[in-house]
Amino acid sequence: MVFTDHRSPFSDHGFLFAPSDISGRLLDWYGRQGRDLPWRRTRDPYRVWLSEVMLQQTTVAAVVPYYETFLERFPNVADLAAAPVEEVIESWAGLGYYSRARNLHAAAQRVVSLFGGSFPDDLEGLMSLPGVGRSTAGAILSIAFDRKAPILDGNVRRVLCRLYALKEDPRASASEKRLWAWAEELTSADRPHDYAQAIMDLGATICIPRRPDCPACPLEGLCRARRMGVEAELPLRRKGRVVPQRTEVALLLEREGRFLVRRRPLEGMLGGLWEFPGGGVPEGSEPLAAGKALLRDMGLAGELRPAGRVRHVYSHFRLDLHLLRGEVEETFRVGEGAQDRWLSPGELTVLPLHGAHKKALDHLASAV
Ligand code: ADE
Repeated sequence: MVFTDHRSPFSDHGFLFAPSDISGRLLDWYGRQGRDLPWRRTRDPYRVWLSEVMLQQTTVAAVVPYYETFLERFPNVADLAAAPVEEVIESWAGLGYYSRARNLHAAAQRVVSLFGGSFPDDLEGLMSLPGVGRSTAGAILSIAFDRKAPILDGNVRRVLCRLYALKEDPRASASEKRLWAWAEELTSADRPHDYAQAIMDLGATICIPRRPDCPACPLEGLCRARRMGVEAELPLRRKGRVVPQRTEVALLLEREGRFLVRRRPLEGMLGGLWEFPGGGVPEGSEPLAAGKALLRDMGLAGELRPAGRVRHVYSHFRLDLHLLRGEVEETFRVGEGAQDRWLSPGELTVLPLHGAHKKALDHLASAV
């Protein structure tokens, strides 16, 4: 898609809209069509903050069950701050992007130690909390405190790129500046709470990535991308980003009806979550050979056989996970420490395994 039009959003067709046209239509639409979501029944900053952190990079459908369960376990910020971080990570298992869980815990401790247990109600205070960037701080300010503050999460970014027909890479710093300025000028001063929910809902349900449902959109007549017929092309996607692929094996090792699992060290990727033992397949090696070498390194003896394959996408690579299953002899005393356990299939189903290995367990369950 080549754009030749570099004029400002307003100059070619005259003003497509005044900022208040947008908020008026959005608020009206939200009043009629807004979704009833669990975190919309509260203004408690703790709950609003929790929902916003959970919703970073994650869909509403995935978040709802976690939100409820998490609140049962940690009903307020003091309970969260006092809990061991491992428990917080366990409650997060399956939501992905685990640094969020770690930050959540650290932020709760900060709220308790520095803010006397009450969430700050200004941008600076909120942004001083780990895991709270400018957009999340804006969402918390608007939703919990009904203060005018712009939001620019993925959904809002897409809506604005289309509304103003931004033809540049939206992640470029000049674009960022313009997007924040647009977000600021559109935000309703009268009803910041409802406006925040409304624009995020529009991005999540109508102004969706590939095939926006423009006929259902309250802003259709005002949208510059729609006017130009380029709504499906915007925002411009980053080109040529090659996502690396990693190949690993997971060893599904059985001893007397139990399987060996390990807990990952707290620091680092997926820290504190559980997995089957395994590792990378070196360049030029086969998964089975790599699995046998790992088994030897663990001091275990036994046969391995291919038992399926799992693919999992992380933010910066794709994982191709080969499952290898085998029985090992009971005389070996591996895996009796705090970080290694032999567990029954029933026990495994309630263990906080991380995503790819949860899929491995599903494979195992369907094969048993
Ligand atoms: N995405 C991020 N925050 C949200 C919210 N409060 N409601 C719906 N989707 C969201």
